[in-house]
Amino acid sequence: MKIAENLHQFTQTLDFMNFTLHQYLLDCEQPMLMSTGTVQQAAAIIPQIKAILGSRPLSWILVSHTESDECGGVHLLHAAWPEAVVVCSELTARELHGFGYTGPIRTVKGGDCIEAADFTLEVVDYPSEVHLQNGCLFYEQQRGILFSADLMLSFGLAEGLTQPAQWQSAVESLPLQSIPDAHHLELMKQRLLALHPQFVAVGHGYCLRLA
Ligand SMILES: [Fe+2]
Ligand SMILES: [Fe+2]
Repeated sequence: MKIAENLHQFTQTLDFMNFTLHQYLLDCEQPMLMSTGTVQQAAAIIPQIKAILGSRPLSWILVSHTESDECGGVHLLHAAWPEAVVVCSELTARELHGFGYTGPIRTVKGGDCIEAADFTLEVVDYPSEVHLQNGCLFYEQQRGILFSADLMLSFGLAEGLTQPAQWQSAVESLPLQSIPDAHHLELMKQRLLALHPQFVAVGHGYCLRLA
């Protein structure tokens, strides 16, 4: 379902947890998917992505960190679009082989940018891998969309739903459970406050539309 301009959200709902797992397709000149979903979810969304893109290929697959909802279906997406390039941290890149992925990878770190005519994708370090090693968040500067993965998540049956929010308080209220180390959490907050998103495409729960 379309959740913002050129942005499609796909959702797997876990009723028993009152929880949603989202993936996003940014439909631009080089279409990009944020999160593959689990194996079952990737199988379900591939035909939906094809229906949206028609004959245009998927160009990029953004992976925040190594986890079944973030990259579990990556091998299925690779089979569907062999040229699509996975964008992820160095550590995640090493782990992707364990998910059966043998396709192209572009490793990135905080501050890197991938640019095209109609998007500018900034990478933000996110200590989401084991032992607080870096994964990635992705910020699309031209549209002001932050793909926040597991940060700013919420419970609730939130498929297709967005809530209004204020950026500074959304960042300042991030709890220690999000990043279980006070120093790393503070650094993350500083990195986020340097951004000015209009829309937060969360991995789980209600998206945020910022005032
Ligand atoms: Fe995760
Ligand atoms: Fe997640």
